[in-house]
Amino acid sequence: MTMERIPYRTIGIVGGGQLGLMLCDVARRMALKTVVLDANPQSPALRRADATVVADLFDREGLRELCERSDIVTFEIEHTDTRALSDFAEQGRAVIAPSPAVLERIRDKGLQRQTLARHNVPQPYSVLWDEPAAGPPDGMAFPFVQKLRTGGYDGRGVSVLGNPASARLQGPSIAEELVVLEVELAVIVARSCDPGTGETQEMRSYAPVRMDFDSSLNICTRVVAPSGVSAAMERRAIEIAEAAVSAFGIVGVCAVELFVAADGRILVNELAPRPHNSGHLSIEAHATSQFEQHLRAVCSLPLGSPELLRPAVMLNLLGGAHSGLPVCRGYRELCAVPETHLHWYDKSPCAPGRKMGHITCLGDTVEEAMNRADQAERLFALDGLSG
Ligand SMILES: Nc1ncnc2c1ncn2[C@@H]1O[C@H](COP(=O)(O)OP(=O)(O)OP(=O)(O)O)[C@@H](O)[C@H]1O
Ligand SMILES: [Mg+2]
Repeated sequence: MTMERIPYRTIGIVGGGQLGLMLCDVARRMALKTVVLDANPQSPALRRADATVVADLFDREGLRELCERSDIVTFEIEHTDTRALSDFAEQGRAVIAPSPAVLERIRDKGLQRQTLARHNVPQPYSVLWDEPAAGPPDGMAFPFVQKLRTGGYDGRGVSVLGNPASARLQGPSIAEELVVLEVELAVIVARSCDPGTGETQEMRSYAPVRMDFDSSLNICTRVVAPSGVSAAMERRAIEIAEAAVSAFGIVGVCAVELFVAADGRILVNELAPRPHNSGHLSIEAHATSQFEQHLRAVCSLPLGSPELLRPAVMLNLLGGAHSGLPVCRGYRELCAVPETHLHWYDKSPCAPGRKMGHITCLGDTVEEAMNRADQAERLFALDGLSG
């Protein structure tokens, strides 16, 4: 066998949050180099990357530098200057995956819904509502859901309007039917494409996971695998998720958030064309983590097995009532819970509802993993120390 040099390639990452941090960890193990762009030099991924570009996500010069220093540029956040990135891709400064054009159609919830509709992917009924100050849009009756077209995350930018007097969010929006939810699922789909032709090289999906929400904050608190829905429903969810990913031509991993409605419909809520909170448990529970799978896909390497090896429950560690230096109780006690893994993102300050880390609990059964997650939640708590 002829020997070859280790194919060190440099992966540029737009965004320095925890998703970037977990990409950097895997990249290092796989002999890939990383360069991360973020405005905050203290952001989690910047402290873990091989090299950094400290610049705003919309700074054209910063993005140019990122492209020039990278072989492949990818994202942990969609909110960046996609026009600039398209220009740099055309100029051959870096391969960008997924493409900036795909990001543009996904980060605008209005365009996202239109693209899904063109490809007949099932989704909630919705209409564009660009002037939410005026009366309810045609065809929509109270109660319905208002969502800002851009900029929302972790439930900010989503509001249920109960009656004409309900306070509205400001900005171009969509108005969407209020779905009576049985359960929320997420499917991580990985797609790679042939660098020459752009055709699909491989597409592999993880089995659906269940996402449990704090209904007052609209924020995901727990992720459970396996999901507990029927095998037929899981197959249908994967089919729909793959149709959604194909509709956009996404390269890399994409999380497809799905609603299972009380009337039996399975509907796409939204897509995140990157690693996602719903896939964090893949680090311990699956044969290939979503972060490794993403790097494999954007590098056009063979994809890994998405098989679930152990039932798992992931808990998001959200900041408590106060803002300030992060403090915790129960660290030692948490370490005594079997098969329980803490992931600390090392962010500061701790703020109410801020994602500070996560915990993944495994078990022989999903009940055992759930019991361990209950224990972990009772034992471990976070808050911010003010002053
Ligand atoms: N049409 C709807 N009907 C019922 N509930 C909804 C609807 N749209 C959103 N929700 C609830 O609000 C949550 C957040 O909505 P969505 O995923 O659109 O917001 P986001 O802020 O973009 O999401 P993320 O938390 O993924 O960043 C959903 O997971 C769901 O629980
Ligand atoms: Mg969501």
